[in-house]
Amino acid sequence: MGSRVEQEIRVLEPGDAEAFRALRIEALRCHPEAFGASAADAEALDAAAFARMMPRQPPDAIFGGLLGGELAGMVGFFLHRPPKVRHKGAIWGVYVRQAARGRGLALRLMQAAIARAREAGVQRLLLTVGHANAPARRLYDRLGFHPYGIERDALRLPDGRSFDEELRALDLSG
Ligand SMILES: CC(C)(COP(=O)(O)OP(=O)(O)OC[C@H]1O[C@@H](n2cnc3c(N)ncnc32)[C@H](O)[C@@H]1OP(=O)(O)O)[C@@H](O)C(=O)NCCC(=O)NCCS
Repeated sequence: MGSRVEQEIRVLEPGDAEAFRALRIEALRCHPEAFGASAADAEALDAAAFARMMPRQPPDAIFGGLLGGELAGMVGFFLHRPPKVRHKGAIWGVYVRQAARGRGLALRLMQAAIARAREAGVQRLLLTVGHANAPARRLYDRLGFHPYGIERDALRLPDGRSFDEELRALDLSG
């Protein structure tokens, strides 16, 4: 893929469910250590089920990164709803397809999600990242997400490997 391929960032809709399903399953298959969800569970759901799972209540959204019209990356955002935690939001499902990496797609997707969180009045935007996941940690460093803790043994894979996760927050209160 050349670096001039046109990039588009937009909110995914139920009509994108097929492409979203394929991207999400690829993410879970290729990087089981980076996500809590399992590929097998996702594969058991068809596109219609994925469409039903897509956020319906703004500001929650899945941002899609398209390269030359093809879905190549995604970032999910949701707002915590109960009154006592309503100042917080979370990022989930950050993924860019291997062939599309290193051209700023994840950065732009994250910036779109952060802008949405800010508009929604979120004051602390939270995420978790694998302690050994250097590319993702660099991305979050660049965006100002500060580590505030480590969860040991956060994920256990079926092969017995265990992964620690770093908890990070972006302060949007200023
Ligand atoms: C982490 C991940 C989302 C980053 O995606 P990405 O689209 O490659 O990220 P970006 O392009 O925005 O930034 C990555 C690098 O490309 C560089 N870059 C950005 N724009 C560029 C451009 N136009 N040309 C060349 N390089 C560029 C950035 O400087 C950055 O370099 P660095 O990592 O050496 O600092 C991706 O590697 C991924 O999906 N990994 C597997 C799943 C995963 O770990 N998800 C996170 C779960 S918490």
